[in-house]
Amino acid sequence: YLKVLDLKKEILRLKKEKNAVILAHYYQVPEIQDVADYVGDSLGLSQKAAETDADIIVFAGVHFMAETAKILNPDKTVVLPDLNAGCSLADSCPPEAFKAFKEQHPDHLVITYINCSAEIKAMSDIVCTSSNALKIVESVPKEIPIIFAPDKNLGHYISKVSGRDLVLWDGSCIVHEAFSIDKLLKLYKEHPGSKIIAHPESEAHILDAANYIGSTAGMINYVKTHPQEKFIVATEAGILHKMQQEVPNTLLIPAPAEEDNTCACSECAFMKVNTLQKLYDCLLNESPQIDVPEPIRKKALLPIERMLELSK
Ligand code: 13P
Ligand code: SF4
Repeated sequence: YLKVLDLKKEILRLKKEKNAVILAHYYQVPEIQDVADYVGDSLGLSQKAAETDADIIVFAGVHFMAETAKILNPDKTVVLPDLNAGCSLADSCPPEAFKAFKEQHPDHLVITYINCSAEIKAMSDIVCTSSNALKIVESVPKEIPIIFAPDKNLGHYISKVSGRDLVLWDGSCIVHEAFSIDKLLKLYKEHPGSKIIAHPESEAHILDAANYIGSTAGMINYVKTHPQEKFIVATEAGILHKMQQEVPNTLLIPAPAEEDNTCACSECAFMKVNTLQKLYDCLLNESPQIDVPEPIRKKALLPIERMLELSK
């Protein structure tokens, strides 16, 4: 096995040779973010995937993200470093059960958070991410009822800020539900003058305590534009890598999880199965590849295209 430095060099060499692009989410390990052509949130990543002219997309993220890239680029090779990079939120919405749920609300428009499978997207009218969910919900005329799936926490939040009565699917992200409100408030007291920023996949009691709520890119933008000595950051801890680079003199404290894990904060085990070695291997071998059956891909493409159009 090559050392980290050699691995990075080899990845950059192979990338050029194969005309590949590396797209990475903020929750990836720092060494992966450092070799990526673009690091971003789910919306930014799907926009990049939609506009790339590379032949191979190496998606350093989780399965639904790579799948979205493939839906947008059926003729390109899309590889994911480890097929086990799933998502508890996407898993919380199985297609059969969702089909039955939809049938119970036949007159509803279906808006789905991008954290879901291609099968669920294929049953949707518009896809959204945490950075455009409000805009997308508000783009729908008030008299049209909406199903919002699969994240109930984001759904509750959007329902509250938009004043719309959304029919919610009961799904959630294990990482964002792991934060402890008691520990968070204790930490806040220990750091007078700090501000709490939170991702809307977090539960309502966490969001109620937050000074800012937004997507990962939104949170990074907020700390950049709101000079502050200290921030308590309630999202997956991988975000701290890029965020700290943006505000080197600011203390960034990860919000504490209920159960102490390795970092005493929240880490997404799915995001973390990707390693630099696996990224190198998948680029070298052009495997494992993401494939989406054509009938599903065609149906899933429309709601993604609607989202991209509404996000311009
Ligand atoms: P965003 O990066 O779009 O905020 O999404 C967060 C997330 O949980 C991705 O899995
Ligand atoms: Fe899924 Fe949550 Fe991990 Fe994001 S952080 S990939 S929503 S389990």
